[in-house]
Amino acid sequence: MSSESPESQLSLFGETTAIPVELPANNFELIPTSSNIPIPPGTYSSLSQLATHCQVCHRCELGNTRINAVVGRGSEQAPILIIGEGPGQNEDEQGLPFVGRSGQLLEKILAAVKLTIERDIYICNVVRCRPPDNRVPTPAEVAACKPYLLEQIRLVNPKIILLTGATAVRAITGKKDGITKIRGTWIEWEGRWCMPIFHPAYLLRNPSPDVGKPKWLMWQDIQAIRAKLDEVSL
Ligand code: URA
Repeated sequence: MSSESPESQLSLFGETTAIPVELPANNFELIPTSSNIPIPPGTYSSLSQLATHCQVCHRCELGNTRINAVVGRGSEQAPILIIGEGPGQNEDEQGLPFVGRSGQLLEKILAAVKLTIERDIYICNVVRCRPPDNRVPTPAEVAACKPYLLEQIRLVNPKIILLTGATAVRAITGKKDGITKIRGTWIEWEGRWCMPIFHPAYLLRNPSPDVGKPKWLMWQDIQAIRAKLDEVSL
C-alpha cells in the first residue's frame, strides 16, 4: 500500500508537466470534479478527448443544469480562434457554439471578408455550459473552465484570437476596460495576436449601420482582422 498522504498525491496534479490522460468512461477517478484540481497544459492529446471530458465535467455548478457541454466547432487547424462568452439555449440544446441568432450574424460578418467557420475559424466560449437565464458567468465558473479554453488554444494553435465582448477579454487578458474602448486594438498574448471585438449579440441590439456606430466599427475591425491574417499567412 502507498504511504503517500492524500495531500501529497493531490500535489502531483499541480505539476506543469503534461500528464497524458486516457479517459475511459468508467474511470471516474480521473475526472476532476473539483476546480481545485488543475488540468495542466498538455493534458489532452486531441480536441475530441477534451470534449469527452467536458461532457462529464462538474468543476462548477453549471454542470448540474446543462443539457450538453458546448465545446467548440470549426476547423481544428484554424488560423483564427474566436472566443464567445457562454452557450445560450440553442447552443445548450444542440451542443454547438454560436448556432443561434448571434452565430448567424457572426457568420455573415466573417463571410463579408471571405472567411468561413468550416475552413478558417475554430469557435468556442469562455464557459462550456449554459449559465442559467443566460447570465454572465461568475469569476469562479470562468476560472473552473479556463483550463479547457487554454487547452483548446494550445491544440488549435491559432495565429489570431478574437475576443467577443468583455467576458472573453477579461478571461484571457485580465483587462477590465470597457469593450467600446478596447475593441479594434491588437494585443499580443502568449505569442498570438488578439483583438477584442463587439459581441454579435450587442450588434443585434444596436443594428444601425451609421458611421461610428457599433456595426460600422465592426466592419472596420473585420477588415483589419482579414489584413492581419493575410500578413501572418505570408
Ligand atoms: N453567445 C456566446 O457568447 N456564445 C455562444 O455560443 C452563443 C451565444
